[in-house]
Order: sequence, then structure tokens, then C-alpha cells
Amino acid sequence: MKPSVVLVTGGGGFIGSHTVVALQERGHRVVVVDDHSTSSPIALDRVAAITGIAPALYSLDLNDRPALDRVFAAHPIDAVIHFAARKAVGESTEIPLEYFDVNIGGTASLLRVMDVHGIDRLVFSSSCSIYGDGAPDSIPLTETAPARPTNPYAWSKWVCEQMIDQACTLHPRLRAISLRYFNPIGAHPSGLLGEDPLGEPRNLMPYLMQVVTGRRAELTVYGQDYPTSDGSAVRDYIHVSDVAEGHLAALDHIDDVPGHRVVNLGTGQGTSVLALRAAAARATGHPISYRVADQRPGDVAALVADASKAHRDWGWQPRHDLIDMCRDAWKFTRMNPHGYVR
Ligand code: WQD
Repeated sequence: MKPSVVLVTGGGGFIGSHTVVALQERGHRVVVVDDHSTSSPIALDRVAAITGIAPALYSLDLNDRPALDRVFAAHPIDAVIHFAARKAVGESTEIPLEYFDVNIGGTASLLRVMDVHGIDRLVFSSSCSIYGDGAPDSIPLTETAPARPTNPYAWSKWVCEQMIDQACTLHPRLRAISLRYFNPIGAHPSGLLGEDPLGEPRNLMPYLMQVVTGRRAELTVYGQDYPTSDGSAVRDYIHVSDVAEGHLAALDHIDDVPGHRVVNLGTGQGTSVLALRAAAARATGHPISYRVADQRPGDVAALVADASKAHRDWGWQPRHDLIDMCRDAWKFTRMNPHGYVR
């Protein structure tokens, strides 16, 4: 896609901020909307430090449609990348209605405002968790694997995909790509940008990093009775910079075909919880103690991508391995032991 104006919802978040860096380095002008309910505004200061450009920033809730409408009226937007959402599997089983309100309500509001302003290119942040507890023999998962969401987060992403699909069918101008990420981890190689969850980390890698720095006493492994090599759950961890590049690739190909497409972003490599713990201990040179607890509600045994569609159609492929992911996560953690703090 030629240099354009791209509106990024949730651009202050972990994947969003890394994607804003990639967009600005590619010459796009970026407008960020973010309510900072789960992200720090400092992340965008870091984006400016890395790229030399401070994206336009509007602090707002996507469900505040008049405020969102004013942003679209103020900028000649060519495309939208929609990250803004709550995204923790375990948390979603505790506050499902919050996930429906933010993730589904926010997406419906965005689609409405896009339609009013005639904006017809959308890249949507979807999730491999939609695949749910696929039969082990369906690993690695292609985009044709059935949707079996097992938690409110995954279900909310699946509903959003269905809404987008319907919108593309009924509004033929609208072209959309839903990117089903597997497990993004790591950080920008500068160490200036990384994953800084507010409060206690729900995801594995930030929790591991906080054990290394002593902010957390030990790791709790949620289940060692899965049908996997070591009993702990397996995921397809992918470097956040590769995920960001996947969004640039999606934008470059958004006009190839009309309608709605679903594309996996993963590496095809499965890594267990215990194996990632060991890799993080090696990368940091610190032991990471752990205890085993019951399985976490909503979790599944294994999620590993078949990402050949993105490679075949777009030439995209991940360029970082697990060592890179752990090294970069550790660099960010060393440089920001308490995350983004003013
Ligand atoms: C991974 C594994 C946990 C924390 C994430 C994102 C979601 C989506 C998919 C993008 C699980 C175990 C975790 C801990 C643990 N990505 N674990 N102890 O649930 O796969 O979902 O990837 O859309 O947005 O949240 O990732 O890191 O929470 O868990 O044992 O302290 O690690 O049970 O098996 P998950 P996660």
C-alpha cells in the first residue's frame, strides 16, 4: 500500500505500538485512538523516540461514537487497523460482559463510523484462540479449521469476525483481513518498546520476566496434565515484530481481492510452558522457580499455526526464533524493570 493515513485503534498497546513503529518507518502517517485502559501513553512516547515521529493521539473509548466520528472527520483516513480490545483468556472468564462490551461493542461502533465516512479498508486483530480445543491431529491449524471458542475472549473475537464478514458481504466496497495471531511475545530490539501489562500479568512471558526481576516470587504453571510432551500447554510463540510486519503485509494486499479474508500469523513451532520457562531462564541467566496448579479455565492443550497462507499469498514469514524473542523481552525488561513509568 502506498504511503497512506492509517488509523490504529489500541495503538498504545503491545502489538499496536510495535505496528505503529513499522507503519511510520514505512512512510505511513498514523492516527492512534486508545483509551489507555490497559496501555500506557508512554509507549507512544517511545514510538516517537524510535521513529522520530509522534503519531496523532486521541484518548477515547471506541464506544464513544461522537468522539470517534470527530477523529474520522479530522483526518483523510485510508485504512484502519483495529487492535483495541481486552485480550486475556483467563480474565475473560471472570468478566465476560466487559469483554463483550469492549471487544464486540467497540468493533460494531468502529464499523458504523467507518461506513459513515466511507472508509473501506480494515485489518482486524483476531486470535488463534478462536480455534479452541482443536483435535490434536488438527495441529498445525490452517484457517479452515473449525471455530471452537472455549472462552469469552475467543468467542468475542469470533463474533467480531462474523460481524466483519457480514459487513463485507452487505457493503461490497468494504475489504477486510482478520489476522489470527498466535502468541506474540518479545520486544522491539531497541529495548524501548515491549510488553508492559498493567497490574499482575495474565500472559506467560511478561510473568516470566517479572519472576526474573523479582517482582513475582515464582511462576504458576497452569496444568501439567495436558496430552503434550511434558504435560504443560503448548503455544506458537511469535515475535511481536513479525506480527507487526504481518500487518504491513496485510495492508499491502488489502486491495488484492474484495470481501473478508482470515489469515494466521504464527511460526508453526509449538513450545510448552515449561520449555518457554527454560528458554527464558537461559536467555536471562536467572533461574525461574515454579509450582504446578490446576488448568486455567478456558485454556486448551495446544495451539500451533499453519501460516503458509500468509507466506504463499504475501511472501510474509516470521524472521525471529524463540531465542530472539526471549533476548528481546529480557532487554526491554532490563531497561524497564518496572515497565513504562513516568
Ligand atoms: C499461554 C500458556 C497458560 C500464565 C494469548 C493472548 C491472546 C491470544 C492468544 C492474540 C497457557 C500458561 C500463562 C501463567 C501459565 N493472542 N500460563 N502461567 O492464553 O495462549 O492467549 O495468546 O490475540 O490474546 O492472551 O496466552 O500467555 O496467557 O498463556 O502457565 O502465569 O501459558 O495457561 O497455557 P494465551 P498466555
